[in-house]
Amino acid sequence: MSELVLVLDFGGQYKELIARSVRGLSVYSEIRQGNISADEVKHLAPIGIILTGGPNSVYLSDSPRCDPGLFSLGIPILGICYGMHLMCYTLGGEVRHGERGEYGTVSAGFNKDSILFNGLAEKSAVLMSHGDHVNRLPDGFVNSGFTADCINAACENVNAKLYGVQFHPETGHTVNGREILRNFLYRVCGASGDYKLADYIDKQVKGIRQKLGNEKVLLALSGGVDSSVCAALLSKAVPGQLTCIFVDHGFMRQNEGDEIEAVFSKSHLRFIRVNAKEKFLAKMKGVSEPESKRKIIGEEFIRTFEEESAKLGDISFLAQGTIYPDVVESGGKHGATIKSHHNVGGLPKNLKFAGVIEPLSGLFKDEVRVLGKKLGLPQSLVNRQPFPGPGLAIRIMGDVTEEKLEILRKADAILREELDVVKRRPDQYFAVLTDTRTVGVKGDDRTYDPVIAIRAVITGDFMTCDYAPLPHKVLGRISSRITSEIPSVSRVVYDITSKPPATVEWE
Ligand code: XMP
Repeated sequence: MSELVLVLDFGGQYKELIARSVRGLSVYSEIRQGNISADEVKHLAPIGIILTGGPNSVYLSDSPRCDPGLFSLGIPILGICYGMHLMCYTLGGEVRHGERGEYGTVSAGFNKDSILFNGLAEKSAVLMSHGDHVNRLPDGFVNSGFTADCINAACENVNAKLYGVQFHPETGHTVNGREILRNFLYRVCGASGDYKLADYIDKQVKGIRQKLGNEKVLLALSGGVDSSVCAALLSKAVPGQLTCIFVDHGFMRQNEGDEIEAVFSKSHLRFIRVNAKEKFLAKMKGVSEPESKRKIIGEEFIRTFEEESAKLGDISFLAQGTIYPDVVESGGKHGATIKSHHNVGGLPKNLKFAGVIEPLSGLFKDEVRVLGKKLGLPQSLVNRQPFPGPGLAIRIMGDVTEEKLEILRKADAILREELDVVKRRPDQYFAVLTDTRTVGVKGDDRTYDPVIAIRAVITGDFMTCDYAPLPHKVLGRISSRITSEIPSVSRVVYDITSKPPATVEWE
């Protein structure tokens, strides 16, 4: 078992980033609720605890609290932002609303004698994001950092192994953030750095074999990163016992269905591609309202999956590519019920299986990608961008036809060819077929054809995004290729809207 650092959640938006940063420094981390009891923490025996930030003010009566017993366990604690306020407030310090508050990147000065900042620059940029600050430190604490507007940007009680920072070391905006976390983990908590992803494969392979015995397992494969890596891991563990069903609804991108089939039909597993294109297209006839499209595709997916799994008969277990953020977001309780929201369309709750296995449920997305590479999956699969379950059907405005799908597939393929090779690639990019037609001229003829929109976004979490500032030269090349290689497109426009107020997908 690896050494553990607990990340206690007080509602901050960066809790996963903190846990992931700790793992990136080779120390295993898990996220737990902020109100976990000191007894339970003692039982888990972490080498350190990190209290996350959060949007609340600690002096208000309904703000989240922690068990005060945490601070006398002798386990090193780092409080970040609200976590620092909570620690100081609980131990007798005073927290106040600042006159101005500090938001964004500011310059901070540090006490280099502090073990947390040892070896780092005396002044550097940090990310601040709170209106409150610790006005008076609790007994036993000393100041170890400040900014122009915050007298206690960092503090510590070395004897009690308690440390606090008002800023966010887990974000890239804090220049020496990673080093500060490293100092906490290795110099305060005494971590040995024993967390390695390679061990995860061996551990899971053993666990899967033990759980399944000789039983058979079924996986709904979408070709997305999570289900693909899950398939690769299961096929390593129990090659003869795994069946993957890939429901091809016909709304995949150019050659995508064939690529998925090519990768998985070569491996030692039973791979079933269900070509359900005609069925899905028939269901889409005349449907143009986005939510109706999503619902119809989701239901049809479930029906197809049920029909195919019923034909197999001898399957006991269902495998799912659930990853750690899914577990964290669902409150950490994860029993045998099947999640209704899934990237392949939402599996029904009443599917009858003896058990569910989720071998990736301890990993973050980028760890899943690394694992995929280690398991020998091609880069094109492992680095895939998110792709919505309903596929191109929600990137075609209005009703979906084979003819429109063909236009969009070609436009999307051109866009990807051009953007796959640019230096600063956006995080997600795709083409949309709008339901607007415009007048154009080709040769000497007037045309009246549809408009393609390009969407390319910069985002870390896909919950918010900015449009990508693509160079005009690149946009020009994409536009000229799309209009010349696809005669039935009249013009190309670029979507320059952020989320919010827009969403990433158009439907
Ligand atoms: P929106 O459009 O909600 O998209 O801003 C945010 C991210 O989620 C992806 N997306 C989906 N992924 N099933 C999925 O697995 C879906 O139905 C779905 N809809 C949107 C979208 O591509 C973006 O990355």
